[in-house]
Amino acid sequence: MNIKNICCIGAGYVGGPTMAVIAKQCPNIKVTIVDINEARIAAWNSNNFDALPVFEPGLAEIVKETRGRNLFFSTDVNKAIDEAEMIFISVNTPTKTYGKGKGMAADLKYIELCARQIAQVAKEDKIVVEKSTLPVRTASAIKSILDNTGNGVQFQILSNPEFLAEGTAVQDLLFPDRVLIGGDTATNEGQKAVQSLVEIYTNWIPKAQVLTTNLWSSELSKLTANAFLAQRVSSINAMSEICEKTGADVREVSKAIGMDSRIGSKFLNASVGFGGSCFQKDILNLVYIAKSYGLDEVADYWEQVIIMNEHQKNRFSDNIVKTLYNTVSGKNIAFLGWAFKKDTNDTRESPAIKVADNLLNEQALISVFDPKVVEERIYADLEYLNSRDPQENRTLLSVKKDQYQACHNVHAVAILTEWDVFKTYDWQKIYNGMQKPAFIFDGRGVLDKTLMETIGFTYYKIGSGN
Ligand code: NAD
Ligand code: UGA
Repeated sequence: MNIKNICCIGAGYVGGPTMAVIAKQCPNIKVTIVDINEARIAAWNSNNFDALPVFEPGLAEIVKETRGRNLFFSTDVNKAIDEAEMIFISVNTPTKTYGKGKGMAADLKYIELCARQIAQVAKEDKIVVEKSTLPVRTASAIKSILDNTGNGVQFQILSNPEFLAEGTAVQDLLFPDRVLIGGDTATNEGQKAVQSLVEIYTNWIPKAQVLTTNLWSSELSKLTANAFLAQRVSSINAMSEICEKTGADVREVSKAIGMDSRIGSKFLNASVGFGGSCFQKDILNLVYIAKSYGLDEVADYWEQVIIMNEHQKNRFSDNIVKTLYNTVSGKNIAFLGWAFKKDTNDTRESPAIKVADNLLNEQALISVFDPKVVEERIYADLEYLNSRDPQENRTLLSVKKDQYQACHNVHAVAILTEWDVFKTYDWQKIYNGMQKPAFIFDGRGVLDKTLMETIGFTYYKIGSGN
C-alpha cells in the first residue's frame, strides 16, 4: 500500500522529531501530528522557532522547511485519525504510579485510550504503528480493542520502536544504525503492512538497515536495547568507584577496554548516573515482565542496573557532604547543568534532581545554571518529589541566568551535565569569586584536572583515583 497520509498521536520528544524527519524525507506524504496538549501544539505551530517544545540540534530548521508544506500540528485528533492510512502511536508510557505493578510496570492507559479512539473514529482500514516503547505482547491488547468494534474495519498492528537518543535525535533519525519493524508474519495483510512502512523508511535509509521481525521480537528488542545500554553505564560507574579507591582512572580503563572490538568504545563514560525518561522506566518494565513470568533471577539481574545507578547518584552527593567537612548546612553549592545529558532541555529523571534533593535534605543552599532548562522546570522537578513544600524548595534553591552568577560566593561547584560550553568558562574568574578552599565536584569528568588544580581548586573528578 502506497501511504499518502500519516497521523501521529503524541507530539512529544519522539513524535515531534520522528515525524518532522519523515515529512522532510518524504515530501509526498502528508504528516499530521496531533496531541491533546493544546499548549504543546501551539508551541509547535509558533513562529518562534527557538521555543519549540523540544530542543534538538537541527530540528527547528526541519520544522521551518516542512511545516505547512507536508507537516501539520493539530489538536483535532479525530480528523487526523479519520484521514490517515497509517497511524503512529507515540504517546507516553510512564511507570505506573498506582495499583498493581505500581513503581514497575508501564502504565498503558494512554496507549489504550488511543486504541479506543482509533477504533471509534476509523471508517476505513488502517495500519496502526506502535512507536511508543511498550511491554512485549502489547500489540495483542491493541489488536483486541481494535478488532472488537464490530464495524468491519480491518486493522494491522506494527511495532516500530524508536532508538533515537535526545540531543542527537535528528542525526539518529537521518542516519539510524537500523530501523526495526515488527508485524504479523502469519498473514499476507500483515506482511503488506510491514512493506508499506519499509517503503517509507527506504526513501532515505538503505534497505539492509531496515530490519523486519515478528511483533514480539520487535517489542522486546526495544526494552533489550535500553537495558543493555543502561547496563553499560552502570557497569562503568561501578568501576568508577573501584578506580577512586585504587588510584586507577576510569577514563583510562574505558579506553583500554573499549579498544577491544568485542566490547566497543561507546557508552563507557562514567557519570553521576544515567537519567532520561526511558532507561529506568524500561528496565523496571523488563523486571516486572520477568517477575510476571516467575523469572526471578532474570528480574534480579536487571534490577541491579538500577540499584547501581541510585548508588552512584547518592555517593556523589555523599562525597560532597563528606568533603565539605561533613556538613553542607547553610553552605552554597552551584550546580552547573540540570538536564539529564547535554544538548537537550529534557530533565526527566535527571541525576541532578536526586543529587539536589539529597543536598537540600542536608540544608545546603543551591544555585543552578543550565544553558537550556528553564526555571519553572527545575522547580517542577523538585516539587514532583514531594520532599518538602514548594516554598521551601524556592527558598533553598535559586535558578541563575548565567554561570558566574550561579558560582558567585559558593563553597563548591558541582557539574551535573556534560554541556561542552562548561569547558570554555573563565574558571579563574569563577575561582576568584568563590569561598576558599574552592571545591569542584565534576560528576561528568568534563574539566581538565591539571588546569583546575593550577588555578587553585580542590578538584574531584568522578572515577579518578588520584
Ligand atoms: P512525551 O511525554 O514527550 O510525549 C507524549 C505526548 O503524548 C504528550 O505530549 C501527551 O500530551 C501526548 N498524549 C498522551 N495521550 C494522548 C492521547 N490520548 N491523545 C493525544 N495525545 C496524547 O513522551 P516521549 O518522550 O515522546 O515518549 C513517547 C514514547 O516514546 C514513550 O513510550 C517512550 O518510552 C518512547 N521513547 C522515547 C524516547 C525519548 O528519547 N524520549 C526515545 C525512544 C522511545
Ligand atoms: C536512550 C537510548 O540511547 C536511545 O537509543 C533510546 O531510544 C532512548 O534512550 C529511549 O528509549 O528513550 P537517551 O536517554 O535520550 O537515549 O540518551 P542517552 O545518550 O542514552 O543517555 C542516557 C543517560 O545515560 C544520560 O543521562 C547520559 O548522560 C547517560 N550516559 C550515557 C552516561 O552516563 N554515560 C555514557 O557513556 C552514556
